[in-house]
Amino acid sequence: MASPEGARRHFSKGLLLSASILALWVPQGSRAALRIQKIPEHPQKNQDLLLSVRGIPDTFQDFNWYLGEEAHGGTMLFTYIPELQRPQRDGGAMGQRDIVGFPNGSMLLHRAQPTDSGTYQVAVTINPAWTMRAKTKVRVEELPADNAKRHP
Ligand SMILES: *[C@@H]1O[C@H](CO)[C@@H](O)[C@H](O)[C@H]1NC(C)=O
Repeated sequence: MASPEGARRHFSKGLLLSASILALWVPQGSRAALRIQKIPEHPQKNQDLLLSVRGIPDTFQDFNWYLGEEAHGGTMLFTYIPELQRPQRDGGAMGQRDIVGFPNGSMLLHRAQPTDSGTYQVAVTINPAWTMRAKTKVRVEELPADNAKRHP
């Protein structure tokens, strides 16, 4: 027969186990929740490209878009703070690009160029302790040179 002490130890071990499973599970679940959809999936030169973000909670503080493998000030395209009257602030990587951010976390790149190809990342600040992230690879194709001849 198990002693009360043994039963107590067993109980707290189980509690500890479920607590650590929860701790592992929550951040992974939240990372998996954010998704970027490319519209169109294979953009061509001079097409508009929408990077549409799914899975953003109803309330968040701000979001940032980056172009590059690393997310830092030098790769930041823009930051978007929904509470501000002019919510969008362009960053160092914006250059001559024409990008519009939307309150749902999505961004629209006007007249995409092959030089706009790369890894696009979004970081959504839900609160000071929780940031959701997602990234996607974009490749902007040059139109085939003989496109006009083949499709008159
Ligand atoms: C976000 O907003 C843009 C602009 O209104 C829209 O085109 C896009 O479909 C929206 N994306 C989602 C996931 O709702």
